[in-house]
Amino acid sequence: MDARDLVRSGKLVRSVKAVGTARGLRSLRAAWQRRRSDAVGLPRRGPELARVPGVVTGADPQPGGGVVRFARSSLRVRVTTGGAVFCGWDGAAPEPSYALVRGCPEVDDRAVLEPDTVGGWRVVSERVTVAVSRLGAVEVRTPGGVMLRRDLPPRWWEPAAAVAGSAPEERDGHGPDGERPAGVGARWQQRSEVAADARFFGLGGRSSGPRLRDGRYRLWNTDPGGAFRPGDDPLSLTVPVQLVVADAGTHLVFHDNSWDGSVTLREGEEGEGSGHDRPGGCWTRMEGGPLRYWVIVGTPARVMHSWASLTGTPAVPPAWALGHHHARWGFGNADEVRRVVAGYRERGLPLSALHLDIDHYAGNRVFTVDTERFPDLPGLATELRGEGVRLVSIVDPAVKAEPGDAVYDSGSAADVFVRDALGLEVRGEVWPGESVFPDFTDPRVRKWWGALYAERLAQGFSGVWHDMNEPVSFGAFGGTTLPRSARHTLEGRGGDHREAHNVYGLTMARAGYEGLRELRPEERPFLFSRSGWAGLQRYGGSWSGDVATGWPGLRASLALVLGLGLSGVPYSGPDIGGFTGSPSPELYLRWFQLGAYLPLFRTHSALSAGRREPWEFGPRVLRFAAAALRERQRLHPYFLTLAQLAGRTGAPYVRPVWWRTPKDRALRDCEDAFLLGDALLVAPVLEEGAEQRTVRLPRGRWYDTVTGVAYEGPGRAVLDAPLSRIPVLARAGSVVPVAGADGGVELEVWTPCPGRKGGGGVLVEDRGDGWEKTEVVRFSTRLRAGEVRVEREDGAEVGHPVRVRGHAPRNGSRGRR
Ligand code: GLC
Repeated sequence: MDARDLVRSGKLVRSVKAVGTARGLRSLRAAWQRRRSDAVGLPRRGPELARVPGVVTGADPQPGGGVVRFARSSLRVRVTTGGAVFCGWDGAAPEPSYALVRGCPEVDDRAVLEPDTVGGWRVVSERVTVAVSRLGAVEVRTPGGVMLRRDLPPRWWEPAAAVAGSAPEERDGHGPDGERPAGVGARWQQRSEVAADARFFGLGGRSSGPRLRDGRYRLWNTDPGGAFRPGDDPLSLTVPVQLVVADAGTHLVFHDNSWDGSVTLREGEEGEGSGHDRPGGCWTRMEGGPLRYWVIVGTPARVMHSWASLTGTPAVPPAWALGHHHARWGFGNADEVRRVVAGYRERGLPLSALHLDIDHYAGNRVFTVDTERFPDLPGLATELRGEGVRLVSIVDPAVKAEPGDAVYDSGSAADVFVRDALGLEVRGEVWPGESVFPDFTDPRVRKWWGALYAERLAQGFSGVWHDMNEPVSFGAFGGTTLPRSARHTLEGRGGDHREAHNVYGLTMARAGYEGLRELRPEERPFLFSRSGWAGLQRYGGSWSGDVATGWPGLRASLALVLGLGLSGVPYSGPDIGGFTGSPSPELYLRWFQLGAYLPLFRTHSALSAGRREPWEFGPRVLRFAAAALRERQRLHPYFLTLAQLAGRTGAPYVRPVWWRTPKDRALRDCEDAFLLGDALLVAPVLEEGAEQRTVRLPRGRWYDTVTGVAYEGPGRAVLDAPLSRIPVLARAGSVVPVAGADGGVELEVWTPCPGRKGGGGVLVEDRGDGWEKTEVVRFSTRLRAGEVRVEREDGAEVGHPVRVRGHAPRNGSRGRR
């Protein structure tokens, strides 16, 4: 158990007594300091008064909606051109916001606020109708009038002193300009209802998804402690965004508020035809900050597209980042790195990148190199690059608080570190020892930090891996982050850690991304980050964090990738084999086989964990892992296409099986398979000893890509899943761009069904790791007189060799309901 494990398990105090480690003592000190800072720096919580909006008193129509006034609050409703609808209580406006990519989108001025027949108001727009009741309930309906969500009147709890001291018009909640006074740190809660059959997804990276069952999900980015298992909550990357899928339609709700809070979900129940359905429920509670949210209605693809328009399209990783990565905490030295890379080479196993963890730093200090163990890092990088392997560097935000440390000296001189309410630097305890933390919510600090990446580039690194940016400061008690009272710039507005905490990783990603773009403008940055928030995808991806080794951890890793994708962050993957301990050969292999179909395909493990190289688990595992690696390489053009499509439309590479058929209830509950793009359905083996598994198929015909057997969906099929592979099915009529034997792109076309519409696919050829313009080429497929026809939709030559696969179903191969 390392010091962090001790901190998390609450055993630190005991261990300090027992061994008195320097880190243990410092963690104790950090925890006391945090408690003291908060005692001085946080407003004391006195008596509070509850408030609800009260009765409607009038409304001011404005372009795209308007403001509805209530006795004790006001609600702004604004429909924007992308179809997203903004609702802001108490005068809350869409900006300022860390989530919105270009501020508030343009208003759709065709939408107008009008009185309804029951004393309320409503806004009708192309994609959604929003109806506001007399008492402030907000109903979101499809254009056909079906209710998707009903937000009941919110409730605020405000410090009684603040209310008593405010001007009367402020107490009413609608001053002359409709705004409430800033800084009245009211807590609030809102209850919402959704259809009885609705299912919840999203909320960032959750270990227990992808379907979020009944329970409370906290919105506070948290390093889970050593290693997490399914059910551990929260984790490092929370996003207050939920995707709700029901028969009546799909909608997304995003609460643009970075404060600590929670979402409690309760799935509904259907009365089995009795007419007594119990609707699903959702309670959103926030410790402060504005009550403002966005609603988007449409098909899943359309909703995710609008979400990407609102918060930014995902950065497209460089082509090499879609290959295989190998990482470990504790390679030890340059020779060990060479040995591992040679191990891949000698066995003919493709390897794209190798990641160096904190152990390559001098004394765990960011932006340094231990030159005894890595005497010539730039030389090593060049040598590996010659073999097609890039180096990726971990980057932690904590800076060792020690005069003489170059980063500390430069940061202190520029006054970039977070301070407490008394103006002192906040000191915490992280890997390098006593540390300070850059305030990434300050544009000046982001610029300073981004420039530091020049050192990483000079060392030969091709990409960065942001870690410990929840941010973590080990504390013997009371949490593992900065004091809530710590001051932050928040783009000049000023505020404290209660508001800045959840955007710390996001703003660090912005600093790193912008730094890399400036330093190496010709290449697309490769960046992925453990923590983040709405909009992280603009700068890069994420990964699972420290998933516990074990079969439950394997399941959790899939849940995370799917959930992140539906929260807008499509590029991620788990630590293959799990972060801790030593997986059995079978578990390692099943994890590896799953990872081969996820965007970030990376083996990684902790300092004290066992090996993760594919040859460390015996010849059989090596043979099968090699097959998975080769298949990943073959699918590289497909992954590049998916990355480019994600970068245009926000559609995640890895999608839930209900993506195109959200009304199929059985698919909404299916959590052990996923769609990779439109063409493939991947059914990983998540259970020990399983050599067969049941797969739930969406409608249409599906071919087992190895046996070629066809199955008809919707329904279930039992497929062989020998140790050598996991089942992967291809949709009839689809076109999958793959690497041909000569290295060019070949089109693998899966025979369309006769008499049906046919099918199609997309190819986006990525011509490098830069910003070259790419072209989306669409193909359509048809079966005519027993022959498969493939055409480019723009009428041009197909231009690539075509390989037709799949044949008509045999008896008995139909899917079962
Ligand atoms: C954190 C990261 C892990 C990394 C370790 C040491 O636990 O999640 O990936 O190996 O820190 O840097």
